[in-house]
Amino acid sequence: MKLASIQAAENKLLLQTYERNPYLFVGGQGVFLRDENGNDYLDLLSGIGVSALGYAHPAVEDAIRRQSGRLLHTSNLFYHEHTADLALRLTEISGLDRVFFCNSGTEAWEAALKLARANATRLRANGRTIGTKFLALDHSFHGRTMGSVATTAKVKYREPFDPVMPGVEFVSFNDVADLRAKFSNDVCGICIEPLQGEGGIHPISREFFAAARELCNSTGALLLADEIQCGMGRTGKWFAYQHYGIQPDVTAIAKPIANGIPMGAMLCTSDAALAFTPGMHGTTFGGGPLACAVAIAVIDTMKRENTLAHVEQVGEFFRAKLSELATRHDCITDVRGMGLMLGLELNSAELAKQVTQQMIERRIIINRTSDTVLRFLPPYILERQHVETAVRALDEILKASAALAGAAPAGEKAHG
Ligand SMILES: Cc1ncc(COP(=O)(O)O)c(C=O)c1O
Repeated sequence: MKLASIQAAENKLLLQTYERNPYLFVGGQGVFLRDENGNDYLDLLSGIGVSALGYAHPAVEDAIRRQSGRLLHTSNLFYHEHTADLALRLTEISGLDRVFFCNSGTEAWEAALKLARANATRLRANGRTIGTKFLALDHSFHGRTMGSVATTAKVKYREPFDPVMPGVEFVSFNDVADLRAKFSNDVCGICIEPLQGEGGIHPISREFFAAARELCNSTGALLLADEIQCGMGRTGKWFAYQHYGIQPDVTAIAKPIANGIPMGAMLCTSDAALAFTPGMHGTTFGGGPLACAVAIAVIDTMKRENTLAHVEQVGEFFRAKLSELATRHDCITDVRGMGLMLGLELNSAELAKQVTQQMIERRIIINRTSDTVLRFLPPYILERQHVETAVRALDEILKASAALAGAAPAGEKAHG
């Protein structure tokens, strides 16, 4: 039993930071993961929004093979062939002008926070009145490093590490009046996830996003969009902010960029970019040849295969199926999301936990976030038949659970 011996060794050797599910995956193909016994699992989570092109995609394998045989690392003291090529693609798809490469989401978000502070320092040097405060949103999640946890709403992520970065105030989600009340010349940046992920798949409202843009314009503060989970095609557009027609000054991306090879990036306007001068920020591994080569392959594949349109279509189909499911089960209180970033809210955390568990027992991987929300972040290459399989399984599980609880499914309930 390989799994048992690995579990025992990990229990002894690793910091106990994760509650892993007891499954040992050894391979994958398309939208399926394979365990040590050769069983395939339909993966509707893609490694928390990472494996966008699924597993063993030939374009990704090819890029890794080619680049690993040539050059893995140079450091940022030298040039390599792929940095500018990837930066060009990212600026074209984002509408932003400049890129800083790093290795993870939280690192991209730290770069965004530092840029906002440095931008304010630069503006003050030019005689403008602007402070150092950040506004962040309730239910936000921005990562695990000190600046990221400081801008993350959930107390349990912050409190054990107090004091985290000071000067962050939280605004009620989508509450424009609260945003206006808390905004002032003291603020150097407003932090937004256009579609909140860990917080429970909550889209920002158009009014709130527009107000944040207008307030930042009025003082020179930067509008920071965390697209680490919702960006790079996840919602059917390259960036979730593109659904709103509102351009941030800065965006942070990571997860799917290089389909599993660690990579993050902070993109910004050419004006904001002036705040960083040589030596002010950096990283040893960021934007290395392997990650860049793979990211180029991912973007080019998505363009060639028209993946954004596919995400939009399958996402709409998925959402419609979930909404239809909601009409048949009283325990479903909401269906939210965009593209292939979807959430199904249940009326009980215990039920959400049981459903997640039973789905994986049926070899379908989903995840629960914010206690009551079943989260779906499948690979972009998901097909309708996979959606049908998953929704059928959810239906059966919810029916069985309702029967067990002695309450029959609602039948005629109207639901959005
Ligand atoms: C919106 C958002 N921001 C930041 C992060 C942190 O990214 P990473 O885990 O790569 O540091 C995550 C990770 O889930 C995220 O969803």
